[in-house]
Amino acid sequence: MLSATSGAVRIGARRLAPRATSIVAAAPSSSSRGVVPAGQARRALSSTARLAYALNTNPNPPLGKKNASNEAPTRIGLIGARGYTGQALIDLLNNHPNMDLRHVSSRELSGQDLKGYTKRKVVYENLSPEDVVRLDKNGQVDCWIMALPNGVCKPYIEALGQTPSVIVDISADYRFDNAWAYGLPELLARPKIAQSTRISTPGCYSTAALLALNPILEHLGDSPSIFGVSGYSGAGTKPSPKNDLALLHDNLLPYSLIGHMHEREINHQLGISAAFIPHCASWFRGIHLTINVPLNKTMTSRDIRQIFQDRYAGEKLVKVVGEAPLVRAIQNKHGVEIGGFAVDSTGQRVVVCATIDNLNKGAATQCLQNMNLALGYDEYQGVPLEKLS
Ligand SMILES: NC(=O)c1ccc[n+]([C@@H]2O[C@H](COP(=O)([O-])OP(=O)(O)OC[C@H]3O[C@@H](n4cnc5c(N)ncnc54)[C@H](OP(=O)(O)O)[C@@H]3O)[C@@H](O)[C@H]2O)c1
Repeated sequence: MLSATSGAVRIGARRLAPRATSIVAAAPSSSSRGVVPAGQARRALSSTARLAYALNTNPNPPLGKKNASNEAPTRIGLIGARGYTGQALIDLLNNHPNMDLRHVSSRELSGQDLKGYTKRKVVYENLSPEDVVRLDKNGQVDCWIMALPNGVCKPYIEALGQTPSVIVDISADYRFDNAWAYGLPELLARPKIAQSTRISTPGCYSTAALLALNPILEHLGDSPSIFGVSGYSGAGTKPSPKNDLALLHDNLLPYSLIGHMHEREINHQLGISAAFIPHCASWFRGIHLTINVPLNKTMTSRDIRQIFQDRYAGEKLVKVVGEAPLVRAIQNKHGVEIGGFAVDSTGQRVVVCATIDNLNKGAATQCLQNMNLALGYDEYQGVPLEKLS
């Protein structure tokens, strides 16, 4: 069981978190949201920093222990706890030494004991925005997680107003809002996330696509095409054709063939016009992306793989492999695998594949990375690193 701590202790510790001092802070960004491309970071460095860069090819390396300034527990409120992403988060919070889950909200399960959380007894409540404000003002929660369907969390966010509590939203509602940090730690300057109290967690398909495209942005010859297939947990628990097992049996369901939210998100972050074509399959969790990338010069498979290996050097949740990764191998794991790198006979077209568990790195694990950064813990604390990929 975790003991109670005052919000003042937590907030005080958070204020001691390191400020933006890494080389990433000096790097110009490719878009208004601050994605850090490897090539641009290289050009921005001073001569002293260039020496450091030669030793570390990742322009946005993990902060590691530098961010771990907070030893006190943080009290958590989780809105949307019954859903797939909420449940995946409960598992992670249960294994985190400093995350103290106090309040879980679900209309359907209100009054029932929370299962799968062993650190203290927690009972599901049906929390309204007014209830959330009361708990926040009384100092009973220091960090709120919103795991609600798209378009639902605004009343909660508006009610919480300017609270100093950290809010991490898993929905798409604030991914295009410049007042919120876009929480993709491998690509966005980590110190920026560490200083934020409003963090929007990227979409599952978007996370994999952004990680698979960002290293070769400067080599794009034309717009990439991203063919994606997700397991049906990606559609949430509310019944729809995308989680209708009878429809999905022996089948592949194309949907949102143009204009999917994640197409907009990927293009917004990278400043490109990729086409994204999603499909839903009959397995429960896991996404596969096959990305066709026209190149602006002749390259080899080895060149491209090396660019990815350099860009993600030191990243614990991104694995660069030779073969095209398989979705079965990423299910229940916490990282992203990127591979394939097949170059055609012209040398000017590469196919990159990526896999991700949509509920883990595509949602809950990434949410936890962001919470750790913003609350002053080690980014990977509570992430089962032995279950990567
Ligand atoms: N599933 C994924 O792979 C994935 C990946 C990345 C991001 N996301 C995003 O994460 C969010 C949650 O997704 P999910 O798959 O966990 O959804 P889900 O399984 O359908 O769960 C939705 C949760 O929100 C609650 N809820 C639904 N409507 C509500 C309302 N009007 N007011 C208050 N609570 C409401 C539900 O509980 P009650 O009905 O009991 O209140 C449930 O706990 C979505 O925005 C989704 O886009 C999902």
